[in-house]
Amino acid sequence: MSILQKFRMDGKKAIVTGGARGIGRATALAFAEAGADVTVLDIRDTSETEAMIHELGVKAYGIQCDLTKEDQVNAAFAQAAEKMGGIDIAHVNAGIAMCEKAEDMTFQQWRTVMAIDLDAVFLCARAVGRIMIGSGKPGAIVCTGSMSGMVVNTPQEQCAYNAAKAGVIQLTRSLACEWAKHGIRVNSVSPGYVCTDMTPATTDAEWQRIWFSMCPTKRMANTEEIAAAVLYLASDAASYTTGSNLVVDGGYTCY
Ligand SMILES: NC(=O)c1ccc[n+]([C@@H]2O[C@H](COP(=O)([O-])OP(=O)(O)OC[C@H]3O[C@@H](n4cnc5c(N)ncnc54)[C@H](O)[C@@H]3O)[C@@H](O)[C@H]2O)c1
Repeated sequence: MSILQKFRMDGKKAIVTGGARGIGRATALAFAEAGADVTVLDIRDTSETEAMIHELGVKAYGIQCDLTKEDQVNAAFAQAAEKMGGIDIAHVNAGIAMCEKAEDMTFQQWRTVMAIDLDAVFLCARAVGRIMIGSGKPGAIVCTGSMSGMVVNTPQEQCAYNAAKAGVIQLTRSLACEWAKHGIRVNSVSPGYVCTDMTPATTDAEWQRIWFSMCPTKRMANTEEIAAAVLYLASDAASYTTGSNLVVDGGYTCY
């Protein structure tokens, strides 16, 4: 098989959380372009992404659900597996950002961030892990971490987000070790700043000046630049890669 052939996903069944927009939409489209059928989960309407996937000639499904709710997560993954005939690939990606000084952060704010940025990653990974283990087939899971799980980027104050993303990176490594015996690879991708609704180009100019002064490439990523890394990790081209955290940050964490 040629090396490029290993990036293909023809006949595979993929699921992407937070795929209604942003990085999740870009990876859903990347998986579809590589030949996989794709189910998108999101708390928002997924129909626009579904239509875009469908145009690429594969099957597209969307399920609107709140991934912080255990019963909704289990039901959504079961429904996706039933509709597609299994799940081979998962990008566990949905998340939120919240900036608040630690001394002013309420426990409710902390819990809101943890609920989607860490707890839901566990719930989704567990749901898809159970399906993959039950199928007896190999699988690949990619979680979205962040460079904020490795460094305290500044000037925004976001202790809950940083802590949750550090948790995602270590959860990924733990699952990789536990599930290697089942042929399931688990990796994370850790983006730097990516131009999405979460981090729009209209972000405070002074913040951006500070960000880019600390980043060798002096710009944000676009979503395709993250999707390419997810595509690699989720594909057979990464067959010996598990428990890794692929940093895609334009060099930010080098300084
Ligand atoms: N944009 C960046 O600069 C950046 C940098 C590093 C990491 N990330 C991470 O990348 C991931 C995607 O972020 P993005 O930039 O595409 O943001 P985004 O806001 O464009 O997309 C996030 C998606 O997650 C969905 N979501 C949020 N809460 C949910 C819930 N409870 N249930 C179901 N879906 C929910 C949203 O509806 C949205 O569609 C996040 O985990 C984020 O932390 C983003």
